[in-house]
Amino acid sequence: MLGWGIIGTGDISDRVVSDLVSSSDATVTAVWGRSTDRAHGFAGRYGIPFATATLDELFARADVEVVYIATPAHTHAEIAIEALQAGKHVLIEKPVTTSAADARRVYAEAARAGRFAMEAMWMRFNPLHVEVLDRIRDGLLGEITSVRASFGTPFQPRERVLSPAQGGSILRDRGIYPVTLAHWFLGDPLSLMAAGAFEDGVDIEGHATFEFAEAFAHLAWSGVRFLDLSATVSGERGWITLDPMFWAGTRARVHAGGVERIFGSPELVEHPRVGNGYGPMLKAVTEAIAGARLEHAWHTHADSIAITTTLDAADETMRNSELLKVPSISAD
Ligand SMILES: NC(=O)c1ccc[n+]([C@@H]2O[C@H](COP(=O)([O-])OP(=O)(O)OC[C@H]3O[C@@H](n4cnc5c(N)ncnc54)[C@H](OP(=O)(O)O)[C@@H]3O)[C@@H](O)[C@H]2O)c1
Repeated sequence: MLGWGIIGTGDISDRVVSDLVSSSDATVTAVWGRSTDRAHGFAGRYGIPFATATLDELFARADVEVVYIATPAHTHAEIAIEALQAGKHVLIEKPVTTSAADARRVYAEAARAGRFAMEAMWMRFNPLHVEVLDRIRDGLLGEITSVRASFGTPFQPRERVLSPAQGGSILRDRGIYPVTLAHWFLGDPLSLMAAGAFEDGVDIEGHATFEFAEAFAHLAWSGVRFLDLSATVSGERGWITLDPMFWAGTRARVHAGGVERIFGSPELVEHPRVGNGYGPMLKAVTEAIAGARLEHAWHTHADSIAITTTLDAADETMRNSELLKVPSISAD
């Protein structure tokens, strides 16, 4: 039984811990919240024996072997480094940090401490994505020629996502999923174009084209309007669409493997969700730690740093790029 400490009592902690407490190889031994009341309230909901508003108290506990960090992104690096220095393994919510430089610091500290560290990119462990990735890597679509993915909803984004002081960014909060998908199938982009809209310095939506040697990706994200929540990976022999919500989905449609599949009915690949869907990632973390591994092969430190580097580049391009003005025909 691996002892987990939970840092943060927000929405995602609720969803992840409700999966964690139902797993047979994990026990949640402690929780930290910004206020003692919220920490105790959370502990009460899940039968967690220890609650505190002091991080050092959680880090000092021998029954906490791994900590799950689910606070706003701009706090991840310092909390993770402190946890690693206290000898804990870390699972850090996405985005792992708000810059590639910080991601490097975190993973370097993990290597120094000899502790496991991973960004909680649960999409990589979702059984649907595992099957789709395996089949594409086995050649189902031949060479991949493009990835298209978007994630936009106009629901009032919460304060942390929009707040400059909280490191708010729709690119890093939502765009990370389309960007991660492009990395899976096409690797690091050679170059990219990106444009976006800002409010108080925070990117509230954006879209990008990534260029690869023989392929491209069209990606979009928004916190202020709907953008189709599906994704499609195309290759020499057909394409696969991940149905909405593509990052958390349970169904894909395969248009490959023959004329009927391409022009007629696609093959359906389905994996019903169990619990809130975080179980496979949590199990993978538990197994990696039990096996004394410092990273998980499905979402390595290098993967996480590469994705963060691309997010940094998209952010910089959105902020600095001057788009070419199209001359107005009617003015002539
Ligand atoms: N994997 C997923 O599906 C998924 C989904 C949503 C979010 N996330 C990620 O999970 C993380 C947290 O998101 P959330 O939606 O749970 O956020 P949230 O509901 O705002 O909760 C964040 C937690 O951090 C605390 N907090 C707020 N500001 C803080 C600060 N400056 N320093 C330390 N703690 C602070 C909050 O305390 P108070 O309650 O006192 O404010 C709360 O306990 C983010 O990195 C986000 O990207 C992942």
